[in-house]
Amino acid sequence: MLVRTVLFCSLALLPVLSQANAQLALEKGCYGCHGEPPRRSAPTFVRLAADYARYRGQQDAPRKLADKLREGSLFGHIAAHERISPYECEMLMRWIIDGAR
Ligand code: HEC
Repeated sequence: MLVRTVLFCSLALLPVLSQANAQLALEKGCYGCHGEPPRRSAPTFVRLAADYARYRGQQDAPRKLADKLREGSLFGHIAAHERISPYECEMLMRWIIDGAR
């Protein structure tokens, strides 16, 4: 019974969660660079989603991509990438893999 309740609740929450991620991207300022039009060399979320679609079904992809993004690159630090929490970053990577809608 408990299992069924939990299952039902998580299914009911799914659409809410995907909205929460677009909302999260907005709150974290990601759209400032990845929106339409993008800022300078930043890829739009539409382009990122098309690229990251190849990670669909890979369980550990969101965590790996999040680690990579947060690590940053040697050149051109992006504060928004490096300051986001591991958990939030993983949620955003999952959201992008699923189409960033
Ligand atoms: C100040 C502008 C800026 C902001 C704000 C920003 N980004 Fe980026 N992002 C970039 C640029 C430029 C690139 C491409 C160069 C690079 O990969 O470093 C990029 C690349 C990426 C990539 C592709 C990385 C790869 O190599 O596959 C992802 C995913 C990403 N950003 C997600 C996010 C998320 C999520 C947020 C919000 C927490 C965010 N970005 C905020 C500028 C920004």
